[in-house]
Amino acid sequence: MKNELKSFFTEHWTYMAVSTACKLNLFDNLLEEKTAKQLAEELSLNEEKLLLLLNALHNANFLGKNAELFKVNSLSEFLIENNPESLKYACMNWSVEHLNAWQNLDFSIKTGNSSFEEIYKKPFFDFLNDNPEKLNAYHIAMYQYAKDDYKTLPNVIDFSKHKSIMDVGGGYGAVLESIKKKNPNLDCVLFDLEKVVENVTVSNIKKISGSFFDKIPNQSEAIILSRVIHDWDNKKANIILKNCFEALPKEGTLYVIENCADKINIDLSLLSLNMTAICESYERTTIEYISLAENANFGFQGEVKLNDLQTILIFKK
Ligand SMILES: C[S@@+](CC[C@H](N)C(=O)[O-])C[C@H]1O[C@@H](n2cnc3c(N)ncnc32)[C@H](O)[C@@H]1O
Repeated sequence: MKNELKSFFTEHWTYMAVSTACKLNLFDNLLEEKTAKQLAEELSLNEEKLLLLLNALHNANFLGKNAELFKVNSLSEFLIENNPESLKYACMNWSVEHLNAWQNLDFSIKTGNSSFEEIYKKPFFDFLNDNPEKLNAYHIAMYQYAKDDYKTLPNVIDFSKHKSIMDVGGGYGAVLESIKKKNPNLDCVLFDLEKVVENVTVSNIKKISGSFFDKIPNQSEAIILSRVIHDWDNKKANIILKNCFEALPKEGTLYVIENCADKINIDLSLLSLNMTAICESYERTTIEYISLAENANFGFQGEVKLNDLQTILIFKK
């Protein structure tokens, strides 16, 4: 038992080795077998130290090894940038700022405030807005998660009953991309911050920039808010929901897609701690989401399970 405990203390080293490999583009450059010497020359790295990393990745089952030759395996293939199913940016997302916030979690537990904001002196989304490379990496990471998560969305909700739909806080557009594939005639609008919207490459959708704390444009019969409310405390969530209410026509529909803590078998406490450290928020239960939306005058219509984690809560104006 004590030995297990001792191993547990350093379990995060494996993640750090893998995310470092992503950062150094090692997996992208190991599509063919190479020695540490070849790879070090190609990427201008220190050969001796690179060999330590490659061996650690092999021992953790992230690389194949044949004598002195290393190559990606079926796991690290998902960490190659141009794999259509890549999770490379999703992997890197949890290093650097997220880790720094976690290292100062004691600050959040003592004060109730975001340790991220304490370190970086601004809220998370303002920090991204001021760092174009970080913003792009974060949104590619969200897109990589979202591509998997929203694959079945148009199968469980019939969006063809609407003429138009707007994804508020839609990031790089994975939700609308999935909906548009099944409903090519549906007018789709993506709404997000200016610096996000200008990077979106999804075609055949309208893109509008602005802040959901100021005003959401009247553009659609229905609005989607996916993984947006969980970023904010109740006061801020209420402003977003009220602005959605204002933006919708009479009888307009709001779809809130979130991890409802009571609907999931796995424990969301760690994710809630992450949300606390980053943005002073947490993973709410179904009833908490319903009561937030009702406070903004929406009427609850029902719910549909999207996948193992997410539930779609449906509201009407
Ligand atoms: C956690 S991400 C969710 C992205 C996407 N909806 C998904 O489910 O993957 C939160 C989104 O809210 C956007 N956002 C943050 N602050 C915003 C604001 N003030 N106005 C509009 N969008 C904002 C972010 O840019 C980001 O795209």
